Amino acid sequence: MGFPNIRMRRLRSSDSMRRLVRETTLSIDNLVYPLFVRKGKGIKEPIKTLADCFHFSPDSIAREAGEVAELGIPAVLLFGLPDKKDKTGSEAWSEDGAVQSAIRHIKKEVPGLAVITDVCLCAYTDTGHCGVVKNGKVDNDASCELLAKAALSHAQAGADMVAPSDMMDGRVKAIRQCLEKNGFPDVAIMSYSAKFASAFYGPFRDAAESTPDASTGLTDRKTYQMDPANARQALDEIALDIEEGADIVMVKPALSYLDIIYRARQRFDCPIAAYNVSGEYMMVHASAAAGHIDKDAAMMGILTAIKRAGADIIITYFAKELAKKLKG
Ligand code: PBG
Repeated sequence: MGFPNIRMRRLRSSDSMRRLVRETTLSIDNLVYPLFVRKGKGIKEPIKTLADCFHFSPDSIAREAGEVAELGIPAVLLFGLPDKKDKTGSEAWSEDGAVQSAIRHIKKEVPGLAVITDVCLCAYTDTGHCGVVKNGKVDNDASCELLAKAALSHAQAGADMVAPSDMMDGRVKAIRQCLEKNGFPDVAIMSYSAKFASAFYGPFRDAAESTPDASTGLTDRKTYQMDPANARQALDEIALDIEEGADIVMVKPALSYLDIIYRARQRFDCPIAAYNVSGEYMMVHASAAAGHIDKDAAMMGILTAIKRAGADIIITYFAKELAKKLKG
Protein backbone atom coordinates (compact mmCIF):
# COMPACT_ATOMS: atom_id res chain seq x y z
CA MET A 1 0.00 0.00 0.00
CA GLY A 2 1.52 3.27 -1.10
CA PHE A 3 1.62 6.48 0.81
CA PRO A 4 -0.46 8.50 0.32
CA ASN A 5 -3.02 5.77 -0.24
CA ILE A 6 -4.35 6.40 -3.71
CA ARG A 7 -5.94 3.00 -4.31
CA MET A 8 -9.44 4.47 -4.55
CA ARG A 9 -8.25 7.10 -6.98
CA ARG A 10 -6.72 4.44 -9.20
CA LEU A 11 -9.88 2.36 -9.09
CA ARG A 12 -12.05 5.30 -10.11
CA SER A 13 -9.80 6.58 -12.85
CA SER A 14 -11.94 5.63 -15.86
CA ASP A 15 -15.32 4.25 -16.75
CA SER A 16 -13.82 0.82 -17.44
CA MET A 17 -11.99 0.80 -14.12
CA ARG A 18 -15.16 1.83 -12.32
CA ARG A 19 -17.13 -0.93 -14.04
CA LEU A 20 -14.49 -3.47 -13.17
CA VAL A 21 -14.82 -2.92 -9.44
CA ARG A 22 -18.53 -2.13 -9.26
CA GLU A 23 -20.22 -4.13 -6.52
CA THR A 24 -23.86 -3.56 -7.42
CA THR A 25 -25.38 -3.71 -10.87
CA LEU A 26 -29.00 -3.23 -11.76
CA SER A 27 -30.53 -5.89 -13.94
CA ILE A 28 -33.73 -6.00 -15.96
CA ASP A 29 -34.23 -9.50 -14.58
CA ASN A 30 -35.17 -8.26 -11.13
CA LEU A 31 -37.78 -5.69 -12.15
CA VAL A 32 -41.52 -5.77 -11.68
CA TYR A 33 -43.71 -3.21 -13.45
CA PRO A 34 -47.02 -2.18 -11.83
CA LEU A 35 -50.08 -1.81 -14.08
CA PHE A 36 -53.58 -0.49 -13.38
CA VAL A 37 -56.65 -2.05 -14.91
CA ARG A 38 -60.32 -1.09 -14.93
CA LYS A 39 -63.35 -2.50 -16.70
CA GLY A 40 -64.19 -1.34 -20.19
CA LYS A 41 -62.88 -1.60 -23.73
CA GLY A 42 -60.00 0.04 -25.52
CA ILE A 43 -59.02 2.16 -22.52
CA LYS A 44 -55.57 3.68 -22.18
CA GLU A 45 -55.90 6.82 -20.10
CA PRO A 46 -53.02 8.68 -18.49
CA ILE A 47 -53.09 8.64 -14.68
CA LYS A 48 -52.88 12.24 -13.54
CA THR A 49 -50.95 11.58 -10.35
CA LEU A 50 -48.52 9.03 -11.81
CA ALA A 51 -46.41 10.33 -14.67
CA ASP A 52 -46.16 8.08 -17.74
CA CYS A 53 -48.58 5.51 -16.22
CA PHE A 54 -52.04 4.61 -17.52
CA HIS A 55 -55.35 3.06 -16.65
CA PHE A 56 -55.93 0.16 -19.05
CA SER A 57 -58.94 -1.98 -19.81
CA PRO A 58 -58.42 -5.77 -19.83
CA ASP A 59 -58.34 -5.89 -23.64
CA SER A 60 -55.79 -3.13 -24.04
CA ILE A 61 -53.49 -4.16 -21.20
CA ALA A 62 -52.12 -7.14 -23.14
CA ARG A 63 -50.44 -4.83 -25.65
CA GLU A 64 -48.72 -2.97 -22.81
CA ALA A 65 -47.77 -6.28 -21.21
CA GLY A 66 -46.27 -7.31 -24.55
CA GLU A 67 -44.14 -4.20 -24.58
CA VAL A 68 -42.99 -4.90 -21.04
CA ALA A 69 -42.03 -8.47 -21.96
CA GLU A 70 -40.29 -7.23 -25.10
CA LEU A 71 -38.08 -5.06 -22.90
CA GLY A 72 -37.07 -8.17 -20.97
CA ILE A 73 -38.95 -7.32 -17.78
CA PRO A 74 -40.04 -10.68 -16.30
CA ALA A 75 -43.17 -9.66 -14.39
CA VAL A 76 -46.04 -7.21 -14.02
CA LEU A 77 -48.01 -6.44 -10.86
CA LEU A 78 -51.71 -5.83 -11.49
CA PHE A 79 -53.93 -3.43 -9.55
CA GLY A 80 -57.65 -3.38 -10.24
CA LEU A 81 -60.35 -0.74 -10.04
CA PRO A 82 -63.94 -1.96 -9.71
CA ASP A 83 -67.09 -0.62 -11.33
CA LYS A 84 -68.89 -0.59 -8.01
CA LYS A 85 -67.60 -0.42 -4.47
CA ASP A 86 -69.49 -2.00 -1.59
CA LYS A 87 -69.13 -2.85 2.09
CA THR A 88 -67.14 -6.04 1.61
CA GLY A 89 -65.38 -5.16 -1.62
CA SER A 90 -67.07 -8.04 -3.43
CA GLU A 91 -65.81 -7.12 -6.89
CA ALA A 92 -62.35 -8.13 -5.65
CA TRP A 93 -63.22 -11.81 -6.20
CA SER A 94 -65.59 -11.44 -9.14
CA GLU A 95 -64.79 -13.86 -11.95
CA ASP A 96 -65.15 -11.14 -14.54
CA GLY A 97 -63.50 -8.40 -12.49
CA ALA A 98 -60.98 -6.15 -14.22
CA VAL A 99 -57.95 -7.97 -12.79
CA GLN A 100 -59.32 -11.44 -13.48
CA SER A 101 -60.06 -10.54 -17.13
CA ALA A 102 -56.72 -8.80 -17.51
CA ILE A 103 -54.89 -11.92 -16.31
CA ARG A 104 -56.68 -14.04 -18.93
CA HIS A 105 -55.88 -11.54 -21.70
CA ILE A 106 -52.21 -11.30 -20.74
CA LYS A 107 -51.80 -15.05 -20.30
CA LYS A 108 -53.30 -15.63 -23.73
CA GLU A 109 -51.30 -13.01 -25.58
CA VAL A 110 -48.05 -12.81 -23.60
CA PRO A 111 -47.77 -16.26 -22.01
CA GLY A 112 -44.11 -15.87 -21.07
CA LEU A 113 -44.70 -12.91 -18.78
CA ALA A 114 -45.16 -13.62 -15.06
CA VAL A 115 -48.38 -12.12 -13.75
CA ILE A 116 -48.47 -11.02 -10.13
CA THR A 117 -51.66 -9.61 -8.66
CA ASP A 118 -52.09 -7.22 -5.78
CA VAL A 119 -54.54 -8.70 -3.29
CA CYS A 120 -56.31 -6.08 -1.22
CA LEU A 121 -59.77 -4.68 -0.63
CA CYS A 122 -59.04 -0.94 -0.43
CA ALA A 123 -59.95 -0.19 -4.05
CA TYR A 124 -63.10 -2.31 -3.73
CA THR A 125 -64.63 -1.31 -0.39
CA ASP A 126 -66.80 1.79 -0.10
CA THR A 127 -64.75 2.77 2.95
CA GLY A 128 -61.43 2.66 1.08
CA HIS A 129 -59.98 0.44 3.79
CA CYS A 130 -57.91 -2.66 3.11
CA GLY A 131 -60.30 -4.79 5.16
CA VAL A 132 -63.97 -4.77 6.11
CA VAL A 133 -64.94 -2.09 8.63
CA LYS A 134 -67.24 -3.16 11.44
CA ASN A 135 -68.17 -0.87 14.34
CA GLY A 136 -65.49 1.64 13.45
CA LYS A 137 -62.75 -0.99 13.27
CA VAL A 138 -61.21 -3.11 10.56
CA ASP A 139 -62.32 -6.69 11.19
CA ASN A 140 -59.06 -8.58 10.77
CA ASP A 141 -60.25 -12.17 10.60
CA ALA A 142 -63.31 -11.56 8.44
CA SER A 143 -61.05 -9.66 6.04
CA CYS A 144 -58.57 -12.56 5.79
CA GLU A 145 -61.30 -14.82 4.44
CA LEU A 146 -62.30 -12.30 1.79
CA LEU A 147 -58.69 -11.71 0.80
CA ALA A 148 -58.26 -15.45 0.35
CA LYS A 149 -61.30 -15.47 -1.93
CA ALA A 150 -59.80 -12.67 -4.01
CA ALA A 151 -56.44 -14.47 -4.22
CA LEU A 152 -58.17 -17.67 -5.30
CA SER A 153 -60.07 -15.87 -8.06
CA HIS A 154 -56.73 -14.52 -9.36
CA ALA A 155 -55.23 -18.02 -9.29
CA GLN A 156 -58.25 -19.39 -11.15
CA ALA A 157 -57.78 -16.73 -13.82
CA GLY A 158 -54.16 -17.80 -14.25
CA ALA A 159 -52.01 -15.60 -11.98
CA ASP A 160 -48.51 -16.91 -11.24
CA MET A 161 -48.20 -15.13 -7.94
CA VAL A 162 -50.50 -13.24 -5.58
CA ALA A 163 -49.31 -10.32 -3.47
CA PRO A 164 -51.38 -9.46 -0.41
CA SER A 165 -50.90 -5.77 0.48
CA ASP A 166 -53.62 -5.40 3.10
CA MET A 167 -51.51 -6.05 6.23
CA MET A 168 -54.16 -8.08 8.07
CA ASP A 169 -52.62 -10.55 10.53
CA GLY A 170 -52.77 -14.14 9.32
CA ARG A 171 -53.74 -13.41 5.75
CA VAL A 172 -50.75 -15.20 4.24
CA LYS A 173 -51.76 -18.39 6.03
CA ALA A 174 -55.39 -17.97 5.00
CA ILE A 175 -54.38 -17.45 1.36
CA ARG A 176 -51.87 -20.34 1.37
CA GLN A 177 -54.46 -22.74 2.80
CA CYS A 178 -57.17 -21.58 0.42
CA LEU A 179 -54.90 -21.96 -2.63
CA GLU A 180 -53.82 -25.42 -1.55
CA LYS A 181 -57.32 -26.62 -0.77
CA ASN A 182 -58.52 -25.53 -4.19
CA GLY A 183 -55.77 -27.10 -6.23
CA PHE A 184 -53.34 -24.20 -6.67
CA PRO A 185 -50.30 -25.25 -4.64
CA ASP A 186 -47.99 -23.82 -7.30
CA VAL A 187 -49.23 -20.26 -7.13
CA ALA A 188 -46.62 -18.27 -5.23
CA ILE A 189 -47.20 -15.63 -2.57
CA MET A 190 -45.24 -12.40 -2.44
CA SER A 191 -46.27 -10.82 0.82
CA TYR A 192 -46.16 -7.11 1.53
CA SER A 193 -44.68 -8.06 4.91
CA ALA A 194 -43.07 -4.90 6.22
CA LYS A 195 -45.46 -2.33 4.86
CA PHE A 196 -45.25 0.96 6.68
CA ALA A 197 -48.01 3.57 6.97
CA SER A 198 -46.72 6.22 4.61
CA ALA A 199 -47.48 9.53 2.95
CA PHE A 200 -45.57 8.19 -0.04
CA TYR A 201 -48.63 6.18 -1.14
CA GLY A 202 -50.51 9.38 -1.95
CA PRO A 203 -50.24 9.35 -5.76
CA PHE A 204 -51.13 5.64 -5.84
CA ARG A 205 -54.32 6.17 -3.85
CA ASP A 206 -55.48 8.67 -6.43
CA ALA A 207 -54.60 6.22 -9.18
CA ALA A 208 -56.36 3.30 -7.47
CA GLU A 209 -59.17 5.46 -6.08
CA SER A 210 -58.51 3.91 -2.67
CA THR A 211 -58.16 6.81 -0.26
CA PRO A 212 -59.76 5.88 3.10
CA ASP A 213 -63.16 7.50 3.57
CA ALA A 214 -63.20 9.89 6.51
CA SER A 215 -66.81 9.04 7.37
CA THR A 216 -65.66 5.70 8.81
CA GLY A 217 -63.81 7.60 11.53
CA LEU A 218 -60.66 5.85 10.37
CA THR A 219 -58.86 8.39 8.22
CA ASP A 220 -55.60 6.49 7.90
CA ARG A 221 -54.28 2.93 7.83
CA LYS A 222 -52.26 3.13 11.03
CA THR A 223 -54.20 0.38 12.79
CA TYR A 224 -52.97 -2.19 10.29
CA GLN A 225 -49.93 -0.75 8.52
CA MET A 226 -46.63 -0.47 10.36
CA ASP A 227 -45.35 2.40 12.45
CA PRO A 228 -42.38 3.99 10.60
CA ALA A 229 -40.51 4.10 13.90
CA ASN A 230 -40.27 0.32 14.22
CA ALA A 231 -37.47 -1.75 12.71
CA ARG A 232 -37.42 -4.85 14.93
CA GLN A 233 -41.17 -5.20 14.51
CA ALA A 234 -40.66 -5.21 10.74
CA LEU A 235 -38.36 -8.20 11.05
CA ASP A 236 -40.94 -9.89 13.23
CA GLU A 237 -43.63 -9.30 10.58
CA ILE A 238 -41.37 -10.77 7.91
CA ALA A 239 -40.57 -13.84 10.03
CA LEU A 240 -44.27 -14.49 10.61
CA ASP A 241 -45.10 -14.19 6.91
CA ILE A 242 -42.37 -16.68 6.01
CA GLU A 243 -43.72 -19.05 8.64
CA GLU A 244 -47.22 -18.65 7.22
CA GLY A 245 -46.03 -19.61 3.76
CA ALA A 246 -44.81 -16.51 1.91
CA ASP A 247 -42.35 -17.28 -0.89
CA ILE A 248 -41.13 -13.71 -1.31
CA VAL A 249 -41.30 -10.98 1.34
CA MET A 250 -41.49 -7.29 0.67
CA VAL A 251 -40.36 -4.07 2.29
CA LYS A 252 -42.39 -1.00 1.37
CA PRO A 253 -41.74 1.88 0.82
CA ALA A 254 -38.14 1.32 -0.23
CA LEU A 255 -36.29 4.60 -0.06
CA SER A 256 -36.89 5.54 3.56
CA TYR A 257 -36.57 1.90 4.65
CA LEU A 258 -33.19 0.86 3.27
CA ASP A 259 -32.16 -0.13 6.79
CA ILE A 260 -35.06 -2.59 6.96
CA ILE A 261 -34.11 -4.09 3.60
CA TYR A 262 -30.52 -4.40 4.79
CA ARG A 263 -31.46 -6.02 8.09
CA ALA A 264 -33.94 -8.37 6.42
CA ARG A 265 -31.20 -9.41 3.98
CA GLN A 266 -28.87 -10.30 6.89
CA ARG A 267 -31.55 -12.33 8.66
CA PHE A 268 -33.57 -14.12 5.96
CA ASP A 269 -32.57 -16.18 2.94
CA CYS A 270 -35.75 -16.00 0.91
CA PRO A 271 -36.06 -13.48 -1.94
CA ILE A 272 -36.68 -9.93 -0.76
CA ALA A 273 -38.65 -7.46 -2.82
CA ALA A 274 -38.67 -3.70 -2.32
CA TYR A 275 -41.44 -1.43 -3.56
CA ASN A 276 -40.19 1.89 -4.89
CA VAL A 277 -43.60 3.47 -4.31
CA SER A 278 -45.62 6.12 -6.11
CA GLY A 279 -44.57 9.04 -3.92
CA GLU A 280 -40.90 8.17 -4.31
CA TYR A 281 -41.38 8.02 -8.06
CA MET A 282 -43.30 11.29 -8.29
CA MET A 283 -40.82 13.08 -6.06
CA VAL A 284 -38.19 12.43 -8.70
CA HIS A 285 -40.52 13.39 -11.54
CA ALA A 286 -41.71 16.60 -9.92
CA SER A 287 -38.24 17.66 -8.94
CA ALA A 288 -36.90 16.97 -12.42
CA ALA A 289 -39.82 18.83 -14.00
CA ALA A 290 -38.98 21.83 -11.84
CA GLY A 291 -35.42 21.64 -13.08
CA HIS A 292 -33.91 20.72 -9.72
CA ILE A 293 -32.49 17.29 -10.52
CA ASP A 294 -31.58 15.05 -13.42
CA LYS A 295 -34.34 12.43 -13.57
CA ASP A 296 -32.22 9.66 -15.10
CA ALA A 297 -29.35 10.08 -12.69
CA ALA A 298 -31.72 10.26 -9.71
CA MET A 299 -33.49 7.10 -10.87
CA MET A 300 -30.19 5.25 -11.19
CA GLY A 301 -29.00 6.45 -7.81
CA ILE A 302 -32.19 5.44 -6.03
CA LEU A 303 -32.61 2.03 -7.65
CA THR A 304 -28.94 1.18 -7.16
CA ALA A 305 -29.26 2.06 -3.48
CA ILE A 306 -32.28 -0.23 -3.09
CA LYS A 307 -30.37 -3.09 -4.69
CA ARG A 308 -27.21 -2.36 -2.69
CA ALA A 309 -29.23 -2.46 0.53
CA GLY A 310 -30.11 -6.06 -0.33
CA ALA A 311 -33.29 -6.18 -2.40
CA ASP A 312 -33.44 -8.99 -4.96
CA ILE A 313 -36.55 -7.68 -6.66
CA ILE A 314 -37.48 -4.07 -7.28
CA ILE A 315 -41.07 -3.11 -8.01
CA THR A 316 -40.98 0.26 -9.70
CA TYR A 317 -42.85 2.59 -12.05
CA PHE A 318 -39.38 3.27 -13.50
CA ALA A 319 -39.08 -0.34 -14.73
CA LYS A 320 -39.65 0.37 -18.42
CA GLU A 321 -37.43 3.42 -18.38
CA LEU A 322 -34.67 1.56 -16.59
CA ALA A 323 -34.94 -1.44 -18.92
CA LYS A 324 -34.60 0.84 -21.95
CA LYS A 325 -31.56 2.46 -20.40
CA LEU A 326 -29.91 -0.84 -19.48
CA LYS A 327 -30.54 -2.16 -22.98
CA GLY A 328 -28.58 0.82 -24.23
C1 PBG B 1 -53.03 -1.26 -1.38
C2 PBG B 1 -51.73 -0.78 -1.86
C3 PBG B 1 -51.13 0.48 -1.71
C4 PBG B 1 -49.97 0.44 -2.47
C5 PBG B 1 -49.86 -0.83 -3.01
N1 PBG B 1 -50.93 -1.57 -2.61
C6 PBG B 1 -51.58 1.71 -1.06
C7 PBG B 1 -51.95 1.78 0.35
O1 PBG B 1 -51.61 0.96 1.20
O2 PBG B 1 -52.67 2.72 0.63
C8 PBG B 1 -49.02 1.59 -2.66
C9 PBG B 1 -48.20 1.56 -3.90
C10 PBG B 1 -47.57 2.86 -4.25
O3 PBG B 1 -47.68 3.88 -3.54
O4 PBG B 1 -46.94 2.90 -5.30
N2 PBG B 1 -53.17 -1.57 -0.08
